[in-house]
Amino acid sequence: MGKVRESGMPEDSYWETFFNPACMLDELDCTGPGDVVEFGCGYGTFTLPAARLIDGKLLALDIEPAMVTATMQKADAVGLKNVVAEIRDFVADGCGLPDGVAAYAMLFNILHIEGPVELLREAHRTLAPGGKVGIIHWRSDIETPRGPSIAIRPSAEQCRNWGEAAGLEFVRYQSFCCCQWHWGLVMQRPTPDEIVTTDS
Ligand SMILES: C[S@@+](CC[C@H](N)C(=O)[O-])C[C@H]1O[C@@H](n2cnc3c(N)ncnc32)[C@H](O)[C@@H]1O
Repeated sequence: MGKVRESGMPEDSYWETFFNPACMLDELDCTGPGDVVEFGCGYGTFTLPAARLIDGKLLALDIEPAMVTATMQKADAVGLKNVVAEIRDFVADGCGLPDGVAAYAMLFNILHIEGPVELLREAHRTLAPGGKVGIIHWRSDIETPRGPSIAIRPSAEQCRNWGEAAGLEFVRYQSFCCCQWHWGLVMQRPTPDEIVTTDS
């Protein structure tokens, strides 16, 4: 499997100028009780702010050892005890969490992957019923300073369709007052009483 196409990163100091992570996470409902899994943590741009907003543990995954080291060093430097960063290829091996345990999954700047539905299925699998997925990606309707090629850059509507194909339900599209370059989307794993079956 290996690294998602076009998922290399610029310098950390440049990358962090694009976001106001705490504000974006709050707008995406990434707050409160329960454990969170982050698919592709990069430099930990969103990891540390998320860890401060949640009550549970934050499992931050990345295939690049340097990214995992950077994230863990930042968390240690500020004494954040609820961050666990791990080297892992989540495309080949999944996230490693059991079924139905996570309160939230972060899919930030990653759904230009070749198999988006499979990745969303993996997020769905590990979420508890009612658990949410936050998705952000670079906008295609304006010129942006970074981001994957337009040909593979997903829209919020495409991601919603992929999420629904993976069993998630739409919560809302989220535009950001605090970030001009990205769109956001919140979906959730349905609770059992929301799942409609055709059986009578
Ligand atoms: C574009 S960066 C986004 C990082 C972070 N989510 C953010 O928005 O700041 C994508 C990250 O996913 C990681 N990645 C790519 N393919 C992966 C895979 N198969 N398993 C785990 N991490 C992967 C890359 O190493 C990179 O750090």
